[in-house]
Amino acid sequence: MPEGQQPILELQGITKSFGGVEALRGVDFALLPGEIHGLVGENGAGKSTLMKIIAGVHTEFSGRVLIDGQATHFRSARDAHAAGIAMVHQELSVAPDLTVAENVFLGNQPTNRLGLVQWRRMAREAGEQLARFGIDVDPMSRLGDLPIGLQQLIEIARVLFSGARIVILDEPTSALSPPEVERLFVTLKRLREQGTAIVFISHFIEDILRVSDTVTVFRNGRKVAETASAATSKGALIEAMIGRGGEALEHSYTDDLMLPRPSDSSVVLKVDKLSLARSLQDVSFEARAGEVLGIYGFMGCGQQELSRILFGKLKPDAGTLAVDGTPKRFTSTAAARRAGVALVPESRRAMLFHQEPVYKNISISILDRISSLLLKPAQERDIAKHQIDQLQIRPPVVGLDLGMLSGGNQQKVALAKWLTYPPKLLVLCEPTRGMDVGAKNDVINIVRDLRAMGLAIIVLSTEPETVLSLADRILVLKRGAVVREFRNEPVSKDRLLEAA
Ligand SMILES: Nc1ncnc2c1ncn2[C@@H]1O[C@H](COP(=O)(O)OP(=O)(O)O)[C@@H](O)[C@H]1O
Ligand SMILES: [Mg+2]
Repeated sequence: MPEGQQPILELQGITKSFGGVEALRGVDFALLPGEIHGLVGENGAGKSTLMKIIAGVHTEFSGRVLIDGQATHFRSARDAHAAGIAMVHQELSVAPDLTVAENVFLGNQPTNRLGLVQWRRMAREAGEQLARFGIDVDPMSRLGDLPIGLQQLIEIARVLFSGARIVILDEPTSALSPPEVERLFVTLKRLREQGTAIVFISHFIEDILRVSDTVTVFRNGRKVAETASAATSKGALIEAMIGRGGEALEHSYTDDLMLPRPSDSSVVLKVDKLSLARSLQDVSFEARAGEVLGIYGFMGCGQQELSRILFGKLKPDAGTLAVDGTPKRFTSTAAARRAGVALVPESRRAMLFHQEPVYKNISISILDRISSLLLKPAQERDIAKHQIDQLQIRPPVVGLDLGMLSGGNQQKVALAKWLTYPPKLLVLCEPTRGMDVGAKNDVINIVRDLRAMGLAIIVLSTEPETVLSLADRILVLKRGAVVREFRNEPVSKDRLLEAA
């Protein structure tokens, strides 16, 4: 940071808790006019929370906020906005039912003397702004009809051109294509020249190093490093992010783990040059019987689209799939299931019914497999009892409402559905997200059992720990392309992050 310049924004000793959980602890942070300040840190490190304090979203915290040297306490996001602070949130916060133009001018529409919205002017100006940002879209189209990446770009454009003096971008590039990222960076640099202060949060450390002047690193709610971008490296930042030493209770995967020799058992799934506009490019891989293939990447890397294609919910633009050597064209989830593919989606809640007893939850997949054949409740219960036994679901009570079970046991129920008629290929999306250590270990053990039964298993996750704890072989997906495969070699959290 250049000496002697007055920060446009200064935070002193910020501490913030949610319930009993401390999200930030004693954080100092300063932002200079005409500076692009990068923030990095693992998921949950506290980056978004700090930014939401600046943007007036979180109003209860301890510590001081100074704007132009003046102590300030925003009571709302509107207050912060009035003070010239604008933020692109990690979660899209556009209004899908409004037009593109209305979204660009959200809460700020041009009106005439009678207070009526000047539609034509609004559409023209919105179109001009977006064009300056390289976005070619009809300003009168409904925003929700556009692809997510484009919606994200429009939201970014809205914030960048709002005239704010402080602009915060919280992981804005996850759904953007490389040329869109380039255009964003050109615009950020132009704003910097005009004296705007910018905070840029991203998982893509190369991007942070390329565009920002200063980088701050968060770990476990604390600021652990601040440095000029020119004076650091990707490796040094990753090391600061994940920390070293035995501070973590769980296995932290900071040391190398040796992946086994690749399996030479039969290929269950072969994916060849799968492509999908904006999401996947020429993705090819094989999944083998008795092997767990991990697919790791940041949010928006294409994992979700890939899993949807494998389960027949999304049609690829190009590429082929083969199961057991037979080419498949999955036109529906039923077709995928008939071919022996089972998917446990990210939100296992989407497939589980908390108000229904455990046995119903287990039998539901059976019912829709043989829908013409109605199972008697006694049969359903018998099948469920067998599964409860096999997977050691606790408590072992078939009639208990699912909602009464712990997360790990619910996950077992989700798996039990598939084991009644074991699939050839099991696709697990974020199988341990949000679980405590005990539940995670349960899931790890189940996956190992299924592998031993000879299933081909694919684990898709944005958490390095998840793939490291489960996978025999790991692919890294970056912006829709496979950029690295780890097999029969040492791998660790920092090697994965480095590759992504
Ligand atoms: N609204 C909230 N309610 C409860 N806990 C929250 C909330 N927002 C964030 N947290 C918790 O605060 C911590 C920091 O989260 P966050 O600031 O989102 O991290 P990051 O943006 O670095 O991934 C996490 O433990 C998260 O679970
Ligand atoms: Mg965040």
